[in-house]
Amino acid sequence: MHLPNLEEAKIRTDKKSEIKNNSYDFKKQFQNQKFYLKTYGCQMNVHDSEEIRKYLEMLGYQETKTLEEADIVVLNTCAIRENAHDKVFGYLGRCKHLKHEKPNLLICLGGCMSQEESVVNEIKNKHPYVDIVFGTHNINDLPKMIIDAKEKQNIEVYSIEGNVYENVLYSRDSKITAWVNIMYGCDKFCTYCIVPYTRGKQRSRRLESIVKEVEELKEAGYKEVTLLGQNVNAYGKDLEEPVTFSELLEKVAETKIPRIRFVTSHPWDFTSELIECIAKYENIMPYIHLPLQSGSSRILKLMGRRYTKEEYLKLFQEIKEKIKDVSITTDIIVGFPNETEEDFLETLDVVNKCQFDGAFTFIYSPREGTPARLIKDSVSQKEKEERLARLNKIVNQYSLNNNKKLEGKIEEVLFLGVSEKDDKKLYGYTKTMKLVNVKADSTLIGQIVPVKITEAKSFSLDGEIA
Ligand code: 5AD
Ligand code: SF4
Repeated sequence: MHLPNLEEAKIRTDKKSEIKNNSYDFKKQFQNQKFYLKTYGCQMNVHDSEEIRKYLEMLGYQETKTLEEADIVVLNTCAIRENAHDKVFGYLGRCKHLKHEKPNLLICLGGCMSQEESVVNEIKNKHPYVDIVFGTHNINDLPKMIIDAKEKQNIEVYSIEGNVYENVLYSRDSKITAWVNIMYGCDKFCTYCIVPYTRGKQRSRRLESIVKEVEELKEAGYKEVTLLGQNVNAYGKDLEEPVTFSELLEKVAETKIPRIRFVTSHPWDFTSELIECIAKYENIMPYIHLPLQSGSSRILKLMGRRYTKEEYLKLFQEIKEKIKDVSITTDIIVGFPNETEEDFLETLDVVNKCQFDGAFTFIYSPREGTPARLIKDSVSQKEKEERLARLNKIVNQYSLNNNKKLEGKIEEVLFLGVSEKDDKKLYGYTKTMKLVNVKADSTLIGQIVPVKITEAKSFSLDGEIA
């Protein structure tokens, strides 16, 4: 048994990260059994689940989308805000209930919540029916933990800086678009954020390995890759022979895979070189997710973001000027401890100036172990909720306005599948990452097709094949 430790999770040394190769020497021993895999949180977790799914399939399990049919349940969890925590414990309650009827049901908890000391203590003390707890650093231990599972709860979570894994196999969600990890962890330590503790130190994969993976995906018919990292534009700084994110992007662009995306960018490491690189290549999509977090320089300083309101605006302008028809989305936190009305108005001012294509907005949620949690806060929850509502109203208006500008225009859409709401329609994304629904034949799935936009809504577009 190995328990997570918050103090250890904070440690950063200048030791270079080790490259480890995954091993897959286990047999298909659970044939005729079913797994249910549930994922919470960000794209990183979605991609980790593709790895988890691969292991489960290699053990012989088949996937079910119905919890009640499962012989094994794996919850891949998120720790970014408290509400994610509540959802998972709610779901564990359902699993516990099911285990009464199915005593052999294996319940496994992984992901970022498993890296939290308090969560694991709670599981240990109050939820003995959870069989396996594994962390973000040892997803590859899961098969062995399943094979060795006994009556007793097994917890293996490591609070280490972390390794770089190569030759990881995935059972991917899509045959058209693929996630590609370019780095793990984060060293920014924004004062509100738990990620540096749950995901460890920033470790970049080597450029050649990433390019090789993209080439293989292209060979396999993939049309799009999304390069993944908590901080993609800090890519390569930690390597023995440092490379920049723009150097990586150029090499990936030269594979000629039709579409390249990347998330998430931090304004701090966003260089002019990078902007010019994005502008230069047709297959690097003109879409940037650029978290603002707050428009108040005072709050940004307390958040440890290392840029001011003015610097953010300047960067935003430069991106808009240099990348043709770029769309920019953002993340905003309201109600950081002691945020005043004036601070909040600064945020609204940036939103009004930038007119984002979209924004994910959150109320600040205190996370154990982070510095911001220690700040005594004088703002009421009600006030925070009101600010969120005011912000959302403006944000949604700009999404709609930006979408409206596309009415009557022709956009290239990569079709991904049949729309859930209407089986005569396909859904896909424009280069700028806008969701489009179009009446079209399913033979177009996986193709990039010109579409005329007929109607804009706040969060999607309707169109017809042009
Ligand atoms: N409370 C609220 N939102 C948070 N985020 C990160 N940490 C917190 C927190 N403690 C938001 C940030 C980040 C996004 C992924 O989640 O906006 O960009
Ligand atoms: Fe969290 Fe800041 Fe790192 Fe993003 S950059 S993962 S907000 S610490």
